[in-house]
Amino acid sequence: MIKVYLRGFSQADLPLVYDLACKTLSEKYDPSLFISLSLSWPDGFIVVESPDGIKAFILGALLPNLQSRVLMLAVSPDSRRRGIGTMLMKRFLEESSKRGTRIVTLEVRKHNDAALNFYHKLGFLRVGVIGNYYNDGEDAYQMQRWL
Ligand SMILES: CC(C)(COP(=O)(O)OP(=O)(O)OC[C@H]1O[C@@H](n2cnc3c(N)ncnc32)[C@H](O)[C@@H]1OP(=O)(O)O)[C@@H](O)C(=O)NCCC(=O)NCCS
Repeated sequence: MIKVYLRGFSQADLPLVYDLACKTLSEKYDPSLFISLSLSWPDGFIVVESPDGIKAFILGALLPNLQSRVLMLAVSPDSRRRGIGTMLMKRFLEESSKRGTRIVTLEVRKHNDAALNFYHKLGFLRVGVIGNYYNDGEDAYQMQRWL
């Protein structure tokens, strides 16, 4: 079992986090987005570090009406099914709770069975569908979890 620990994102992490996002997430994001989101809610941007470097991250935003939203979550392929995504999400829920959040929302590709299972196991429920949500035209399920 590799040793990992969770910590907040720092700007020096951007190259590794950006690389992980490009390799694991199907949507493409501008690097400046990571920095601007980290500045708007630093505690909502958490990375998982191992002796080999950054293995995972979660990035979210605080919304009005006591909501937070998961914008990106990625675990490196060589580190999956070891509870790392679960650790990250639990920390994200704690940080959301500290800010008074009552509902955490996210979108997930309709055919991303791994992520759908993952979120379901963590207590998220499907609450809607957004047609043509992703750049390639795939629909998204909207999911939410009460805190
Ligand atoms: C989805 C993702 C974040 C899960 O991370 P992870 O660290 O592997 O998840 P965990 O090890 O904490 O898994 C917890 C549970 O989720 C479910 N799960 C995770 N991966 C799964 C898979 N490939 N197939 C089916 N269920 C899966 C299982 O119930 C698992 O529990 P178990 O291992 O005891 O059966 C990871 O697969 C990933 O980064 N995928 C690519 C990026 C992505 O899709 N991000 C989400 C975008 S919305």
